Amino acid sequence: MSGLFRTKDIDKLLAGANDPARRLNKTLGPWSLTALGVGAVIGAGIFVLTGTAAAGETRHIESILHAPLLDLILQGTTAASTLGRPGAGPGISLSFVLVAVACGFAALCFAELASMIPIAGSAYTYAYATMGEIVAWIIGWDLILEYAVGNMAVAVGFSAYFNDILHALFGVELPKQLSNPVLAGGQYTGAWFNLPPFLILMILTIMLVRGVRESAGANNVMVIVKIVAILVFVAGAAPAVKAENWHPFLPNGFSGVLTGAAIVFFAYIGFDAVSTAGEECRNPQRDLPFGIVASLIVCTIMYMSVALVLTGIANWKTLDNAAPVANALRGLGFHGIRKWVDIGAIAGLLSVLLVFQYGQARVWFAMSRDRLLPDVFSAVHSRYHTPHVSTWIAGLFVGIPAGIWDIGTLADLTNIGTLFAFIIVSIGVIVLRKTQPNRPRAFRVPLVPWLPGISIASCAVLMTSLPLETWVRFVVWLAIGLAIYFLYSRKRTALG
Ligand code: ALA
Repeated sequence: MSGLFRTKDIDKLLAGANDPARRLNKTLGPWSLTALGVGAVIGAGIFVLTGTAAAGETRHIESILHAPLLDLILQGTTAASTLGRPGAGPGISLSFVLVAVACGFAALCFAELASMIPIAGSAYTYAYATMGEIVAWIIGWDLILEYAVGNMAVAVGFSAYFNDILHALFGVELPKQLSNPVLAGGQYTGAWFNLPPFLILMILTIMLVRGVRESAGANNVMVIVKIVAILVFVAGAAPAVKAENWHPFLPNGFSGVLTGAAIVFFAYIGFDAVSTAGEECRNPQRDLPFGIVASLIVCTIMYMSVALVLTGIANWKTLDNAAPVANALRGLGFHGIRKWVDIGAIAGLLSVLLVFQYGQARVWFAMSRDRLLPDVFSAVHSRYHTPHVSTWIAGLFVGIPAGIWDIGTLADLTNIGTLFAFIIVSIGVIVLRKTQPNRPRAFRVPLVPWLPGISIASCAVLMTSLPLETWVRFVVWLAIGLAIYFLYSRKRTALG
């Protein structure tokens, strides 16, 4: 056991960050934090997964692997597998509210840890400083799942909208063999390789290696384009809503809403980025919770509106495709709005891809600097001063699977990994209130242990609403991670 729970010294970390040569500017106020959150969040979740979550998946009804774990527990294998993954129908808008509440509680826990150890970094650094090496390893390994597999899913979503805009603007259709996933829902589709997601990741990798960073200005432009596209959709398509599409509102009852929530959880991933900006906030105690809650509220309102209009203009059963918003507009013949949506979706998906590829290379880099991964992962380019090896590894690691799998499979795996990280962070808040009660916290979660407890419980319910198959993949992922840790990283870590 010795060494598994060794920690990094928080005071040393803080002293490093206060070094005037390396101190970050405290420039962010409440609204720039909100923009940061909205920028990191809106992407494939709303533009792609809303459709799957509303329609549900009944393709594989013969297999219990595709039934949500919770339904298997509550209804038994026969009933649950016959139902498959029940769609939320128009009730998907309620799923968005449920997830926003769960994310809100988790976000406050992130904010407390981030403000206690306001080092630019992520849950991985907090865990290393507070809960020990093995927990840090698990979170780091899990963050790779969140960023890398999440981006595989976003890249697949990008591909669908890219294909749609090629068709809308130029009437061009790429050959099916080169623009579709090879495996969808575990079945071979006949495609060879999905080229657009792979190519876009290679282009972004080259940009990131050369240090072309998404500046605050460019981020703001992307955020505005996405928001305008959503508003154009909601305002432009609302007159075409037919009330009969909303009846019944909950075709599969609460079970459908919960299963939908576990899928659209993906749409909220990224708001945790706000909590990592603690070091650059002018007033973290006031502005961090504001930025987190405000970006959650803004996104929830937009998501609910899109969900209501989308399920109002098309029958929910028709929405299970890779570009549901564009396709619903195509069905109505609304080609002008469809182009807006395509442009907004592409801008949104690109900004999410860029931020997550950037963040992912930094997680590989930090883990290597702590000697949990081979030294080559923390090599820095002599001319561009970027972690070029990690950036390329991240590009290929994401680009190749994005050319093979479908978005649903990838998004489910991302969700389970991220929910698990949220649970560890929430536990971390409770543990640290006991073990380090006097350490200053710029932001404190109210009502500890109750609020972190609600966060843990709601994340756990969402996790159990994911299919059994996703649980199997997640356990395999963790087992591989622990094997690498015990056979390799543990012997190497610098602290040892
Ligand atoms: N929340 C991000 C998206 O929906 C990951 O694309």
